[in-house]
Order: sequence, then structure tokens, then C-alpha cells
Amino acid sequence: MKILVVGGGGREHAIVRALKRTWRGEEPLEVLCAPGNPGIARDAQCFSDISDGDVRAIVDLARDQQVDLVAVGPEVPLVAGLVDECAEAGIPAFGPSMAAAKLEGSKIFSKDVMEAARVPTAAHAVVRSREDALAQAARISYPAVFKSDGLAAGKGVIICPDEQSAHEAIEQYFTEQRFGATDVIVEEFLDGKELSLLAICDGERALPLMPARDFKRIFDGDQGPNTGGMGSFSPVPEVSEAAIAELSELVHTPIVDEMKRRGTPFHGILYAGIMMTTHGPKVLEYNARFGDPETQALLPRLESSLAELMLASTVRGGLEGVELRASANAAVTITLASAGYPESASKGDVIAGLDDVPEGIEVTHAGTALNEAGQTVTAGGRVLNVTALGPTVADARAAAYAAAAKITFDGRQMRNDIAAGI
Ligand code: AMP
Ligand code: GLY
Repeated sequence: MKILVVGGGGREHAIVRALKRTWRGEEPLEVLCAPGNPGIARDAQCFSDISDGDVRAIVDLARDQQVDLVAVGPEVPLVAGLVDECAEAGIPAFGPSMAAAKLEGSKIFSKDVMEAARVPTAAHAVVRSREDALAQAARISYPAVFKSDGLAAGKGVIICPDEQSAHEAIEQYFTEQRFGATDVIVEEFLDGKELSLLAICDGERALPLMPARDFKRIFDGDQGPNTGGMGSFSPVPEVSEAAIAELSELVHTPIVDEMKRRGTPFHGILYAGIMMTTHGPKVLEYNARFGDPETQALLPRLESSLAELMLASTVRGGLEGVELRASANAAVTITLASAGYPESASKGDVIAGLDDVPEGIEVTHAGTALNEAGQTVTAGGRVLNVTALGPTVADARAAAYAAAAKITFDGRQMRNDIAAGI
């Protein structure tokens, strides 16, 4: 069995590790990764000259290497149609088609599907010009939320406490075009605790994974700008087993049904970002892939075979009768980011202490490189993720922070309140 993982971040490192750890097939499992990174290269053969956005090159690689499955990590190749191209080449691929990945690729499309499927979400309006947006800004109450329609690596959302800040946001979207020429959603601000509930889907049904929470703001106490995610934990003790099934019926099943009805069935991971409000759960957004860094906390808890789950999800109805097995242990993931993140990312800072991390702690690489002297250095915004397991979230948290403290580099940013008080 040969699986090609597409991507080169912490999520993909966690996927590579989990594929190998949970494999129980009789034939050996070989895992490849494109492009991968220096951390992933210790666990899988990497093809570092192939970009994860280069659909053609990935399909060619998958064909040359005669892989049995392509497992797509990031959203960009999904939205660009990698799964469709693999299908055309006769190679099974884990993830949604281009048409189904639009649930993540366009927030306007996603709202339309939510409306048709009657999934609770924030009230919203679409604005397509600066003038439209200014008129809307004068009409709404605050705080309000502005979101670019297209992909923005988790950074296209601006929460505006008042009309003045809405005007500043409007300049960023429409005058500076910070997120390209995009339409914008203006929506109601939802208050509450966030929950990431991912489900693996086979076009017909959704099998929910363990609940997780991630921390999007850069600074402690949820201050500062949004990032791709600064840490995560799983499970979320306030969400019971029964509540997971009920939530999944509310936020996954109707979407899977609606996408099937539209002739664009959803396969792969349907990630619902949920706000638990006093008026019940409401969906903030859908992603069409594993979350980063939720995956780094989720997958170390998985006991079912990840490869089997992925293969089953590529087949219509393939998940029928499949049950998910997860460890009762909790997991906490701390993200270490480079100086300047999320506005910029410092590169080339030497990372010390990687060898001092205790046994049993999982360190996944997100943005690292090797310098000429062979030292591991920073090479991106999010650099490393440190995950620990423990009988409770508090135990896992203590172990994760103790391990994270051993890893140092210039300008290292880390939140100190991931999973605090749980
Ligand atoms: P999204 O990319 O839509 O998940 O938004 C990124 C983050 O912005 C979310 O995880 C929330 O923390 C925040 N956010 C998005 N929409 C809202 C909303 N309507 N009310 C409050 N916070 C929001
Ligand atoms: N952790 C948020 C995301 O993956 O979109």
C-alpha cells in the first residue's frame, strides 16, 4: 500500500504519522509526501520540489509512483481540482471534488448551501463594492464581522467593534485589495465558545470525529489578529458523546444531503467551525479538509486505521457500518510561531532544543528548513507544533507546555493560555 500525502505543514506531518501508526494491513505501508518538510522527511519520502498547488505535477508523481491513494491536506489543491484530476487518472484521492470544495473556497456559496440545508448560521449580507459595503456599514449594528469570499489562509475575517473600524476594513478589502478582488460577506457577530467538529464523509453520510477547539488569535486572552491557529485541544469536555451525534446531525448531515442533491457529493473531511451561542450552535464556516492545528491534537487520539477511513471515504457509501475508535486520552497542541507572524514570518532563525523533548511528545514540523550547516531553522509563520497526550486535558496541557519550553528560537511566539482552565 502506497499513499501520497499532499502538503508540507504541521497537519500533513500529523497525517503522515497517524497513517503509519494506525496501519494494520498485512502488506507494508509506504508513505510519500509532496512537498513535505525536514520534519516529515524523517517519517516519509519527500518530494520537496513539487509544490502542493501544482495539480499537474502531483498527478504525474502519483502516476509515476503508482500510489494507491492521494491524501490531500491543504485547501488550495482541493479548490484547484486535484481530486478530480486524480479521478480522471484513475487514482483514488481523499478529499472533495472541486465542486464540493467550494464549500470552503467561497463563503458566499457556503452560505447559500447552509440556507438551502437549513443549517443555523449568522445572518449575513453580500457586498460587492466599496459603496455597497459603506451603505451596509451604516445600516448594521456592532460588533459586526467582515469576511472575504475566497480563500485567505484563515486571515480574511475582520471583526469590527464599530462603524469606524468597519470603514478601515472596507478599505482593506476594496481599496488595498489585501485579499485580491473579492466579494465580501458582512455578518452578525456571534458570541460564545468555538468548537471544531470534523466529519469524514463518503458522499452519503458523515461520521463525526472527536471534537476539538483551536485558538485563532495570536496573543493570550484571544487578543490581536487572527492567525491560522496557535494551538488546539481534544476532546472538548463540555461536549458529550450524545451532543456530538446531535451536533453532527445539525451541521454535517444536511450539508452532505444537499451536496448529494446538487449532484456534487461531498467526500473527505467536512470541517464545521461552530459557535456555541446562547441561542444554540451556529456554523461560522465550513472547511473541506482537516483543520490545522486541530489535526495535530485529533490524530494522535485516533485508534481506527486512518488509511482505511480515507479509502472508505473515496467510495460512495464506503463508510457504512464503520465505527470510529478513539483513545480516551486527551491531547493538547501548542503552536510555536516565528517573529512577526501573522503579518510576516521571520526566516532562518536557528531552532534549539528539538532533541531535548521527552519521549512520547509529538513534535510536528510546520515551517522549518535546514540551513547550509544542517541546522533546523524557521521557514514560515507557524514553525512547530508540540502535542502531548494525558488522561485529562489539564495533564496533556502541562506535558505539552513542559516540552514546548525546551524548544527555543529568536522571536519565538507561543500562547500561554492554550486549553487553560479546561
Ligand atoms: P472563519 O474563517 O469564518 O472561521 O472565521 C475565522 C474566525 O473568525 C472564527 O474562527 C471566529 O473566531 C471568528 N469569526 C468568524 N465569524 C464570526 C462571527 N460571525 N462572530 C464572531 N466571530 C466570528
Ligand atoms: N484551524 C483552523 C483551520 O484549519 O482552518
